[in-house]
Amino acid sequence: MGIGEAQGKIIVFGEHFVVHGAPAIAGGISSKVTVEVEKSDKNRIITEHKVVEKMSLAGIERVLAVMGIHERYGVHLRGDLRTYGGLGSSAAFCVAMVHAFADEKKIHLTKEEVNKYAYEGEKAFHGNPSGIDNTIATHGGVILFERGKEKNKFELLELYKPLDFVVTFTGKYSETAKMVERVKKFKEQDEKEFTQLMDEYTDIATHGRHAIERGKIEDIGKLMNANQSLLSELGVSDETNDEINKIALEVGAIGAKLTGGGGGGCCIALTKDQEQASKIAEMFKKKGLDSFTTQIEKRH
Ligand code: MEV
Repeated sequence: MGIGEAQGKIIVFGEHFVVHGAPAIAGGISSKVTVEVEKSDKNRIITEHKVVEKMSLAGIERVLAVMGIHERYGVHLRGDLRTYGGLGSSAAFCVAMVHAFADEKKIHLTKEEVNKYAYEGEKAFHGNPSGIDNTIATHGGVILFERGKEKNKFELLELYKPLDFVVTFTGKYSETAKMVERVKKFKEQDEKEFTQLMDEYTDIATHGRHAIERGKIEDIGKLMNANQSLLSELGVSDETNDEINKIALEVGAIGAKLTGGGGGGCCIALTKDQEQASKIAEMFKKKGLDSFTTQIEKRH
């Protein structure tokens, strides 16, 4: 038997654009998945979470193959990270599973190996993952990630001060793969418009990085709002995302946007402190929505 764990993430800037080579910024959150593996007659996924069995089995098979393991396993998925919320649950599942198989086989893996193997598993969930989710699930912290033709690049960012967010589930499960496909079609149909949006976004990422490093919270909020507008133009923000962002801004959040694949899933709102984050989360909960606070912390 082996056990492993990994955390989810929020993307502060750059979902979708990152798939096409722009830099994105993501932070690890405290919600986690735990994976336990035990030998079995065939591969199985055992969980109370909402998962697509076929994809999960394909993920298990891909991870076993890339790790050179030939036995079959029952894979138990647990934890408080919501699946289908755009919070990086499939990547966290893959990273936790790699740790669990390494634990079961008593092998030591470097973080680079964990990330590489988990990325192979991620491919079963999204046809064309950028690699940002498995990178943050492997390393944690706050990262600036850029997909490369040959090799992905990432940098751990130093926060000026911790950032407080409210994460609210729209109530609509989103399928990242479908949303990624939608953006691909947008690009094929209007290359010029897509390039324009990529350029506008890249500017947001540059300023966003500096604002995060200098603790310019108002600027971070404005840039999140601008990023959200571009995501709407890309066609990945639906009415559930728009409504939640609008409410969050109306009650005083500094910035709001969807996070992850969009088309439902989760939205994030940046707040001035933990107290404001708790108040906004409570307000959403009273409306019957699943909402919680999270802090992206300074590195210690
Ligand atoms: C998913 O968390 C973020 C997307 O940009 C897809 C990816 O980067 O693989 C939508």
